[in-house]
Amino acid sequence: MEVVDAIKNRYSVRGFLNKEVEKDTVKKIIELAKMAPSGVNCQPWKIYVVMGDARDSLVAEALSKVDAGKMDKEEYAVYPSERPDWYKARQRAAGFGLYKALGIERDDMAGRLEQGRKNYEFFGAPVGIFITVNKALGSNGWGYVGHMVQTLCLAAVNEGLGTCLQEAWAGFPQLVRKHVDYGDDEILWCGIALGYPDEKHRANSFRTDREDFDNYAKIIE
Ligand SMILES: Cc1cc2nc3c(=O)[nH]c(=O)nc-3n(C[C@H](O)[C@H](O)[C@H](O)COP(=O)(O)O)c2cc1C
Repeated sequence: MEVVDAIKNRYSVRGFLNKEVEKDTVKKIIELAKMAPSGVNCQPWKIYVVMGDARDSLVAEALSKVDAGKMDKEEYAVYPSERPDWYKARQRAAGFGLYKALGIERDDMAGRLEQGRKNYEFFGAPVGIFITVNKALGSNGWGYVGHMVQTLCLAAVNEGLGTCLQEAWAGFPQLVRKHVDYGDDEILWCGIALGYPDEKHRANSFRTDREDFDNYAKIIE
């Protein structure tokens, strides 16, 4: 697959086929992801994969905690405390666009919560991935890890797979640590659902838009 096609075909997949992903395919994607650049080549990322029984037991525990309203204390602020108007507008467009595709009305809070709950079963994906950032680097390190994550997502598309990044898992740092044993010098950034996209799933009919060139870029000659 051409790189440009992988870039264009990637989107957040929120409905997966009940089809296993070969462990070798997962390893291949992760081996490609590490080719991402990082300042001084420090590679401040760690990747933890759960599949099979390990995935199922984590999902079962996460869902029971969600249903009991017992989230962990977040290790970083997922959302800004002050949301500027442009942020709110984009957040609403992304959220309501997805709900519309799923037939969830704006005032249907139960339906919205149910969709949010699906994060903790990886939207039905057979593979869950967790990404941590080494704490030593501070904010600059998160950018480096972002390069790796996007490379991973593009490598997945190349294998006919889909991904959804999930900061929802930032609500469960202790639970995830219990299951994957990430180090004290790492901070859990996000999860990633990985699997074969269910093209017929209503959630997957939704695509986000992007700003026009002049609204985010400027060429000065
Ligand atoms: C770091 C990160 C965390 C995200 N967390 C979630 C999440 O918890 N749940 C979810 O449904 N989507 C999540 N998303 C997906 C974004 O909503 C999505 O990338 C954005 O709306 C653009 O849509 P696209 O990925 O389809 O191009 C996350 C994206 C990123 C980059």
